[in-house]
Amino acid sequence: MSNTSTTEATEASGAAEAATGASPSRRSLIGWGGAGLALGAAAAGGAVAMTRTGNDVDPTAAEAGAAVAFHGANQAGIATPVQDRLHFAAFDVKTDDRAEFVEMLKEWTAAARRMTGGHSVGEGAYGGLAEAAPDDTGEALGLKPSRLTLTIGFGPSLFEKFGLKDQRPEALVDLPKFPGDALEKARSNGDLCIQACADDPQVAVHAIRNLARIGFGKVAIRWSQLGFGKTSSTTPDAQTPRNLMGFKDGTRNIAGTETDRLKKFVWVGEKDGPDWMTGGSYLVARRIRMHIETWDRTSLQEQEDIFGRDKGEGAPVGKAKEHDKPFLKAMKPDAHVRLAHPDSNDGITILRRGYSFTDGTDGLGRLEAGLFFLAYQRDVRKGFIPVQRSLSRTDALNEYIQHVSSAVFAVPPGVRDKDDWWGRALFSKEA
Ligand code: HEM
Repeated sequence: MSNTSTTEATEASGAAEAATGASPSRRSLIGWGGAGLALGAAAAGGAVAMTRTGNDVDPTAAEAGAAVAFHGANQAGIATPVQDRLHFAAFDVKTDDRAEFVEMLKEWTAAARRMTGGHSVGEGAYGGLAEAAPDDTGEALGLKPSRLTLTIGFGPSLFEKFGLKDQRPEALVDLPKFPGDALEKARSNGDLCIQACADDPQVAVHAIRNLARIGFGKVAIRWSQLGFGKTSSTTPDAQTPRNLMGFKDGTRNIAGTETDRLKKFVWVGEKDGPDWMTGGSYLVARRIRMHIETWDRTSLQEQEDIFGRDKGEGAPVGKAKEHDKPFLKAMKPDAHVRLAHPDSNDGITILRRGYSFTDGTDGLGRLEAGLFFLAYQRDVRKGFIPVQRSLSRTDALNEYIQHVSSAVFAVPPGVRDKDDWWGRALFSKEA
């Protein structure tokens, strides 16, 4: 399969860099997020597009700490090969001034363009006016781009503001309460979200910190989540990661190269509506706490029955290899994989992109740990909701997990070129 990369992000940030004499250039550019898009954007923006062949995994790019293209028809950070670390932040809007908010989105986009390219924000962390706070906080100086991706999402509550009511997509429904939910309000929902993924945690944290700093007075972080150890793969040729229960996770995920399945299950199509969402997706985020200590005292046989896969190889019950086709009837009726599999859900398929988390202990000597579940889909009503409805009722895993926070976001399409900005199609419409 041939993948297309574009040098636009490099050029955009390179130009800014030349103008400011700021941070060093230290990146190569990868990205196949939007094949046709890059060519289109290149034609429009006059940038050079190049075609790269190869599979979806680019270990050398990861090792080299390369940059992922920021511009494209779809935002990076969804079908992009999953990076090792996450810093996810949900924001509340604090201003009611639409122009001020739009200006912030433009500033965020410019900063995101630079940071994903491996550069400091604005004029950098030093060298500017001694009397002013620097444009960049500085802790990513000297670090590689680390495949940083920044993905923005708009929560249902944003559409209550700025006269956006009519623009709220029908597919952006409030999630229903599922059996077993124990949601913490302060750690749920949000007007906006930014998902920062990178191979270096400091690069991801730097990105969120600087966006929060730029947004000061206009937005405030409502809650955030750090994640380590990806628990899903969009790159089937790479080794499947393991979750904190010790099982391979992401075996049967949508791969980033499966253009047809991405189109069918992940990207919002032209006729799905509203127009401004074409090329976007919907994100469900759930902080799922694991009762690790109970799990660790559970027999191996029971653990394997619960998932319907063996712990070592990750093979489905009765099969030898991880990627062998699961035979669902061989699994226990309440096995997680049997219940979550598309064949048990009218073909429903979601793209999972979650991370493990450990936030210390809970004061009772138990690890505060689990899975920060992130799933992208074309329509939440035909994605997460029906699957979770079924899982929440019968999944054997429920004895060992609890959903403690929840949020849903409309993730707009990608930023096309250097003149485009996050949310332009939505906010350019007359209120
Ligand atoms: C802490 C909670 C969870 C854990 C530890 C977990 C773990 C796993 C594991 C180990 C697999 C098998 C390997 C694979 O194909 O990826 C799997 C599969 C899957 N899980 Fe989960 N999962 C959790 C929550 C969820 C939730 C909330 C959903 C969706 C509502 C979900 C949807 C799926 C799907 C769709 C599959 C693939 C089924 C297939 O096609 O065979 N999981 N999960």
